[in-house]
Amino acid sequence: MAALRTALHGRLVPALPLSFGSLRNASSFKASDLVIERNAACKPKPDPSTLVFGKQFSDHMLTINWSAKAGWEAPRIKPFQNLSLHPATSALHYSIELFEGMKAFRGVDNHIRMFRPMLNMARMHRSAERSSLPLFEKEELLECIKKLVEVDQEWVPFSQDASLYIRPTFIGTDPSLGVSHPSEAMIFVIVGPVGPYFSTGSFNPVSLLADPSFVRAWKGGVGAYKMGGNYGPTIAVQNEAVKRGCQQEEITEVGTMNLFIYWTNEKGEKELLTPPLDGIILPGVTRQSLLDLARTWGEFKVTERTMGMKELLGALDSGKILEVFGAGTACVVSPVGSLLYGEKKYEIPTMQNGPDLAKRFHKELTDIQYGRTASEWAPLVV
Ligand SMILES: Cc1ncc(COP(=O)(O)O)c(C=O)c1O
Repeated sequence: MAALRTALHGRLVPALPLSFGSLRNASSFKASDLVIERNAACKPKPDPSTLVFGKQFSDHMLTINWSAKAGWEAPRIKPFQNLSLHPATSALHYSIELFEGMKAFRGVDNHIRMFRPMLNMARMHRSAERSSLPLFEKEELLECIKKLVEVDQEWVPFSQDASLYIRPTFIGTDPSLGVSHPSEAMIFVIVGPVGPYFSTGSFNPVSLLADPSFVRAWKGGVGAYKMGGNYGPTIAVQNEAVKRGCQQEEITEVGTMNLFIYWTNEKGEKELLTPPLDGIILPGVTRQSLLDLARTWGEFKVTERTMGMKELLGALDSGKILEVFGAGTACVVSPVGSLLYGEKKYEIPTMQNGPDLAKRFHKELTDIQYGRTASEWAPLVV
């Protein structure tokens, strides 16, 4: 936004260098106002080996209501329960909705840690701004979430193969069909234990469908934001991928993971590539962490650029591709073993190459998450 100048007491002063979004509702709820109502009927905790993603939830949830008239209410932790929404709720009609996905881990020392949670808070804040939802102080929301994890700490699995999945959600709750700025909204956070992404505990490669007739995100669109509307439409494509013998679709991302390619480039150098944050890529916390680690190691080139399909197939053909993997909170890294493009299936030698790099990233991150390596990336919750 071009800098504005505002007349104040007859003087010209520079306006705050904020976007319109940030000028709205600059105030925030405070974690110190949290009201906690404990659940008197806590459920038995499931055996970590039986967990199915997203099916089990803890005993409590966090809710924070906002209205244009009253601003933010005090945050509340209360027994897990259904929401009561007006049928015209704007989240249901116009997808004024966004979410985050993060985890808490029970470490070898029995302390509970989160992983770079401020990156999730920052992404959530950006998604809120793009969704016309009211803004809030990221640190305050993180404090409320930590408190929820503390209240539900028995739900953080006693296992280094499992974790507590945390789902912050933000919805417009306007009881009105007008397509306009929400005048009511709610943040809610639910949590539940999840098991290892790979049920066998080993790295199983996925196959990828790359079909140019489906597009997840486009320049100028909202692919870089974690809005519910970006995900629903991918389910039909996912079904198509499964029908064609693949587990994941896309080549700019790997379903709900960012894409990484490790290869020997034209100059004969080892290089790690991932598509740049050009507006169509979700800025993943895991993506950022792998880039940060690889740059710290300084052992190979690290580049943020897109590799087109022609270049990828050419490099595969000449044996230059070493590993292809997805990276995300769900599994840390997920090797890609083949690619279906057009009618042809291309084998990718990720597993034949270890996958050494994917395994190294997996170990580095899980060591930090489970407290086997001390790191400022994993702040203590309890
Ligand atoms: C489309 C998409 N890409 C990438 C990711 C990976 O992001 P993160 O590492 O923050 O989980 C996710 C998951 O949040 C996603 O939904």
